[in-house]
Amino acid sequence: MLPDELKTQLERKIAGTAHPRELVVDIMFALQDHYGHLTDDAVAETAALLGMTAVEVDELATFYPFIYREPVGRYVIHVCDSVVCWMGGHESLQDHLMQRLGIAMGETTADGLFTLLPVCCIGYCDRAPAILINKKVYGELTPEKLDNIIARLRDEANG
Ligand code: FES
Repeated sequence: MLPDELKTQLERKIAGTAHPRELVVDIMFALQDHYGHLTDDAVAETAALLGMTAVEVDELATFYPFIYREPVGRYVIHVCDSVVCWMGGHESLQDHLMQRLGIAMGETTADGLFTLLPVCCIGYCDRAPAILINKKVYGELTPEKLDNIIARLRDEANG
């Protein structure tokens, strides 16, 4: 259940707009930030806040690649899966990531640190191949650069 403070904050935001449904993505992100992913409860709460049905919210949630309906790791690595990155070495980079983390695309490491997901072009084509980790873009990647990023994130997670 949403804490009162967050609920009140969202209700105020909704009250301040003429078309509350236009805030559905913002509300989903706020609840996802709170729960870690958009749980079934979060879908129901989003629907209740905006006067929508849970099915309507769920349909929108599954449309957005950065809304997660399943649990994800602390670091969600979105690997760009569009044409410029394909030409820039996307496949070997993705293979390297899967091998290094020991998971396939769509999976999360057993320690809960990393999730691998594909994403369409993230607008970093001039620095392909590119990935996005928790909203931060990394480009001109090589296996070595990826290893350094993963090591840094592991260090960060382990304090
Ligand atoms: S195709 Fe990968 S960032 Fe555009």
